[in-house]
Amino acid sequence: MSTPHNSAAKGDFAKTVLMPGDPKRAKYIAENFLDNVRLVNDVRGIQGYTGNYKGTPVSVMASGMGMPSIAIYSYELYHFYDVENIIRIGSCGSISNSVPVHDMVIGMGASTTSRIVHQYHLNGDYSAICSYALLEKAMHCADTLALKDKVHVGNILSSDAFYGETPDMIGQWSTMGVLAIEMEAAALYMNAAAAGKRALCICTVSDHLLNGEHLSSEEREQGFTDMMRLALETAVALDK
Ligand code: HPA
Repeated sequence: MSTPHNSAAKGDFAKTVLMPGDPKRAKYIAENFLDNVRLVNDVRGIQGYTGNYKGTPVSVMASGMGMPSIAIYSYELYHFYDVENIIRIGSCGSISNSVPVHDMVIGMGASTTSRIVHQYHLNGDYSAICSYALLEKAMHCADTLALKDKVHVGNILSSDAFYGETPDMIGQWSTMGVLAIEMEAAALYMNAAAAGKRALCICTVSDHLLNGEHLSSEEREQGFTDMMRLALETAVALDK
């Protein structure tokens, strides 16, 4: 079986899939953290790999950027490949004075500027939330990895317009207690809910939209490594 966007066969993906935005990051995780790894998809360069992490089967596949892109890939993983858990691991811009660059934000909820949430024709505004089971396991793993002080949990904003983030708009969402802006979580959370599956979004803060700070390339690498370990350990915890 394959889809227009995925050439993998049924059974090629593990129960839990980590989704960075960038295909190169998917390759990096596969090469540096997984054993017995094999490439299961490369359509449009969206590399998907399956291997083992500490004996647990785990897949990693890129989502591309933005909600339409992650919506396609996550829909297919949930509906056609029997995937149960998707953990997005991405970057975000902080809009909170209590969330510095280098730290991580887990989206307990994902607000959005996108009309993607209207696709289900609900008579109101849907609250896109993560899986509590995944959140709870991720926080437990953060504790074990001594990363808990660097992980903030709260509402994030999934934006459709990277270059449309004006100071006014940032200020309004910040005033509502939203911690950070990224571009994928709301669509992922809605897809998971509609499929009866589970999702979590973990982001490393790559830049601060209130004070202009941003990570150097080495800091970025270290920060992303912590997030990769956290997601991989969460995948192992989910298998127990
Ligand atoms: N907006 C959206 N996504 C992002 C940002 C941002 O400012 N920074 C990193 N990912």
